[in-house]
Amino acid sequence: MSNFWQKLNKPIITATPMAGITDTAWRQLCKKWGADVVYTEFVSVDALFYDSKKTLQMLAYKASEQPVIAQIFGKRSELYPKAAKLIEQLGFAGVDINFGCPAKKVAGHGGGICLLRDMETVKKIVANTIEAVTIPVSIKSRISLNAIIGAPEKGKITALDLLDALKEYPLSAVIIHGRTYETPFTGPVDLEMLKKLREKFTQGIFLINGSFQSIESVVADLAYTKADGIALARSLYGQPWLFKQIKDYIQTGHYTEITWPEIKATAIEHAHLLYESKGPKGFQEMRKHLLFYVKGHPQAAELRYNLVRVTTPIEVEKIFAEI
Ligand SMILES: Cc1cc2nc3c(=O)[nH]c(=O)nc-3n(C[C@H](O)[C@H](O)[C@H](O)COP(=O)(O)O)c2cc1C
Repeated sequence: MSNFWQKLNKPIITATPMAGITDTAWRQLCKKWGADVVYTEFVSVDALFYDSKKTLQMLAYKASEQPVIAQIFGKRSELYPKAAKLIEQLGFAGVDINFGCPAKKVAGHGGGICLLRDMETVKKIVANTIEAVTIPVSIKSRISLNAIIGAPEKGKITALDLLDALKEYPLSAVIIHGRTYETPFTGPVDLEMLKKLREKFTQGIFLINGSFQSIESVVADLAYTKADGIALARSLYGQPWLFKQIKDYIQTGHYTEITWPEIKATAIEHAHLLYESKGPKGFQEMRKHLLFYVKGHPQAAELRYNLVRVTTPIEVEKIFAEI
């Protein structure tokens, strides 16, 4: 098995999977700005098992994104072999299993992070996936969740339990988001726990997630946890150049601020990539990205007014040409 993870220079800086965000346009931009690895949005194993056309469309990617990993989620371990094989046939560099999603439509039905309450199924999912493919298999999860819903006094299931349960399986990489199911997206991350998890997971690449505060804090967090790298998510909104800035800072102790012409050029490039991949209907999604690109600009209010109405990349170009 060729394991691309082991050939990457450390620290490894990746983009995480993000539903509704990490489409092919986003991933191409992240790679261009220096992401070592990118992930698709999560796709359902059930949908892959039943050959959903829409899901297959979500998995379209360009060669320039490699190494690109497809992330899958689902509760039914018996569906994973077919889904994972399909991902391998499509040419993905790896397959990642979601054991961290807190969203109601996934975790509410016992999937995502709530699968940790059923470690036997977790083990079957990982075993079935690893057995089905020769590409690297990885997982993404969170630091913990209450063992019993709504009863914190009954204790927690942690990612230490997860890694213990999976210690026999040759996972190539793990991303751990340093927050819990109960505090899904806000509040500080538990660096101490991330450090313990790193000590426990020695058979593959260990990436921290959720801790990003500043370019400087990445260096401190990696040194503290001894992780192999960091996976970035919301901090990339409107600033895919973060990869380059972090890498420059790690290598030289300096990084350069992005200029307004570079921001405009990136936003326009993003708009074209998104239009090419999703067409006029899908282009509406660009509006949210554009608002992030203009955040902090002195004329942001005027820009926002116009950008939330765009329907083509040419309109985006025209708006930016005037500022
Ligand atoms: C809009 C959105 C969609 C997400 N979708 C996924 C997903 O499909 N799979 C996944 O493993 N995590 C998903 N996440 C979680 C992120 O990958 C990441 O773990 C989380 O945002 C914490 O990192 P951050 O604090 O750097 O944003 C999503 C997060 C957001 C905000």
